[in-house]
Amino acid sequence: MSQRKILVTSALPYANGPLHMGHLVEYIQTDIWVRFQKLFGNQCTYVCADDAHGTAISLHAEKQGITPEESVALINKERIHDFSDFLVEFDNYHSTHSEENRKLSEAIYLKLKENGHIASRNITQAFDPDKQMFLADRYIKGECPKCGADDQYGDNCEKCGATYSPTDLKNPKSAISGAVPIEKESEHFFFKLSDFDGFLKEWTRSGTISEEIANKLAEWLDAGLQDWDISRDAPYFGFEIPGQPGKYFYVWLDAPIGYMASFENLCQRRDDLNFDDYWKKDSDCEVHHFIGKDIVNFHCLFWPAMLEGTGYRTPTSVNVHGYLTVNGEKMSKSRGTFITARTYLEHLDPEYLRYYYAAKLSSRIDDLDLNTEDLVQRVNSDLVGKVVNIASRNAGFIKKRFGGKLSANNIAPELASDFQKTGEHIAELYESREFGKAMREIMALADKANAWIDEVKPWVVAKEQGRDQELHDICSAGINLFRLLMIYLKPVLPAMAIKAEAFLNIEPLHWTDSQSLLLDHEIAKFKPLMTRVESDKVEAMIEASKEVLAKMSEQKPAETSACNEWLEKEPVAEQITFDDFAKVDLRIAKIINAELVEGAGKLLRLTLDIGEAEPRNIFAGIKSAYAPEALTGKYTVMVANLAPRKMKFGVSEGMVLAAGPGGEDLWILEPHEGAQPGMRVM
Ligand code: 2FM
Ligand code: ZN
Repeated sequence: MSQRKILVTSALPYANGPLHMGHLVEYIQTDIWVRFQKLFGNQCTYVCADDAHGTAISLHAEKQGITPEESVALINKERIHDFSDFLVEFDNYHSTHSEENRKLSEAIYLKLKENGHIASRNITQAFDPDKQMFLADRYIKGECPKCGADDQYGDNCEKCGATYSPTDLKNPKSAISGAVPIEKESEHFFFKLSDFDGFLKEWTRSGTISEEIANKLAEWLDAGLQDWDISRDAPYFGFEIPGQPGKYFYVWLDAPIGYMASFENLCQRRDDLNFDDYWKKDSDCEVHHFIGKDIVNFHCLFWPAMLEGTGYRTPTSVNVHGYLTVNGEKMSKSRGTFITARTYLEHLDPEYLRYYYAAKLSSRIDDLDLNTEDLVQRVNSDLVGKVVNIASRNAGFIKKRFGGKLSANNIAPELASDFQKTGEHIAELYESREFGKAMREIMALADKANAWIDEVKPWVVAKEQGRDQELHDICSAGINLFRLLMIYLKPVLPAMAIKAEAFLNIEPLHWTDSQSLLLDHEIAKFKPLMTRVESDKVEAMIEASKEVLAKMSEQKPAETSACNEWLEKEPVAEQITFDDFAKVDLRIAKIINAELVEGAGKLLRLTLDIGEAEPRNIFAGIKSAYAPEALTGKYTVMVANLAPRKMKFGVSEGMVLAAGPGGEDLWILEPHEGAQPGMRVM
C-alpha cells in the first residue's frame, strides 16, 4: 500500500485563557488520529497555532497591563507546556500573529479581490465614545427588552432566554468602559459568499463532511448565503488590510489561514515537506481539519469558499465533535467541574484522560460526558485490571524461571492469530474516528487473553514437576498477547507504550509489527506500567478547580474565558539541551544518617553513601515531610556533581531529589529494586 501524505489540524485555540477539559477533547481526539496514522506508516503532519487576534485577546492583555504581543507570547509558552504534558504532539505549534500568516492572509485577500469576490459598503454600528472603538454585540450590555433583567448581553438574555439585537436593549452600556454607546458609520469589506453558492452545495455533499453536518448546513444554504463582513476598524489587534489604512482583517478571516501559515513555517525547516504539494489544487496529499460543532460555518462555508476563490485545494475532510459535559452538566465553576488542563495534571496521569476520552469518542457530534466516577472505574478495570495485568501475571515467571527469555514456541497460535486479524478491524475503526468502538474491540481481546490465562493456570503449572516447558510457553504467549494489545493502544497511550517497549526490550512498535511475534527473545524486568486511579485524587482535583476558578471568575472579563491567575503561575522550566542534561551526574545514595539541624526550620542534615571513600554531607529541605529516623537506611537519588555550597550550617555537597507540591507532601525519590550506592541513574 502506498504511503499517504496527510496534513492534520485542530482548531486554533484563542490566546486568552487556560486550556481546559473541553479543549482537550479535540486535541486528544486529533492526536490519537495522527499517532495512529504515523504508527500505520503514513506521512502525517499535525500543525496548530494560537489564535492570537481580535478584541478578546487585546482586552485580555490590557487587563494584565501588557501588550497583546506579550500576552500572546506568555500564553503560547503555557499552552505548549500543557499540550506536551497531555502527550499531544504537534509537528508545529505556531501563532496566527506571524509573518507567514500576514503574507498568506494578504495574498488570499488580494486574490479574492482580484477575482471580484470582495465588496465594500458603509454600515452603522455601536461605538464606545470613551474607548473610541466599535463594539461587537457581545460588548454591549443592558436590560433585557423582554423580562427587564439587568446586565444582559447584546444578543441574548441569560435570564429568560430571549434573543434580540443590541439596539433592542434598554439602557445599553459598553461592557468595556461603561459608557453609553453611540451609533457610528464606517466602511466595511465583505466576502461575497453567495458567489460560491453552487460550489458549496456540491462540496458539502461530496463526502468531506458527515451527512449530519451537511444537513445542518443545508439550512443555511437553502436560506441564501449572506455576504460575510471580514473587516474591523482600528483599534484592532490583527493585520491591517492592504491598501486600507485603519481597517483590519476580522480575526476569523486570518484564523483558518493560520493552518496554512503554521504548515508553511514548518516547511521552512523540513526538507521532506513542500507547501505547494499540500495546498495546490488537485493535490494528491490530504488535509483534514478537526473542529467543534460551534465553528462549523467557518470551516464548512467560509473556509472552503475562500480556498476555492483563490485557487487552492479544499479540505479532504472536516471532522466535527460535540461539546463536553462534566458529570452530566455544562462545566461549572461552582461545582468544580471547570477543570483546567494544568489543574488536572497536578492531580492525575494524562493517560487516564486520553483513554477515557478515546473510550467515549465516536465520529458523530454527540456531546461527550466526562463522568469522574466512570473514569476511575474504567481506567482501573480496563487498563490496570485487564491490560497491565496480562503482563504482570506472566513477567515474573519469565524472569525467575527462564532467565528473562521468552520461549521459541507459540503455544496459542489460534488466539494469537485472532489478535492479529482483529488488528485490521481496529485500524479501520481508528481511521474512521470510531475510537470508542476501537477501545471496546481491544478490551474484548484483553478479556480473551485473561480468560485463556485463567484456563491454563500458569500458577498451577508452575508448582508441578516436569511442566517447565509448558509454563514457559504459556507465559511467553501471555507476554505476546500483551504486546499485540500495546500496539493497538499505542495511539492512545504513548507513554505507557514506551514503558512497555522498554519492558519487552524492543524497538518502538509500529502497526505492522502486529504481524510478527516475539519468540526466543530476552525481555527486561517488569516495572509497573500504570498505577490505579485513586478517587481521592479526583476529588482533590475537583476541590482545587473550585479554588482556581473562584479566583478566575472574580477577575474574568465578561466576554472571554480569560484568567489572570494562571499567568502568574510558576514559570515553565527553560528547555535544556541533551548536553546540559548529560552534565548532571545522578547517583543512587544510601542515607546512612539523618539528623535535625539546630536553628534550621526546614533542613535535615543527611549523610549519604554514594560508593565513594568518604560519605557526602548534604542539607535537604525535607524536614516538613520526613522525620530523620524515617530516612535512615533508605536509598534515594542525588545530584552528585553539584558544586559544593557553603550554607549557614556547613557545606552541602550535592542535592537530593524529591517530588511533590511541598510541605508534608514531599517524597524523596526511592529506587525500589536492585539499587546500590554509587550506581549511575540513567
Ligand atoms: O473557536 C475558537 O476557539 C477559534 N479560536 C478557532 C479557530 S480555528 C481556525 F479557524 F483558526
Ligand atoms: Zn430576559
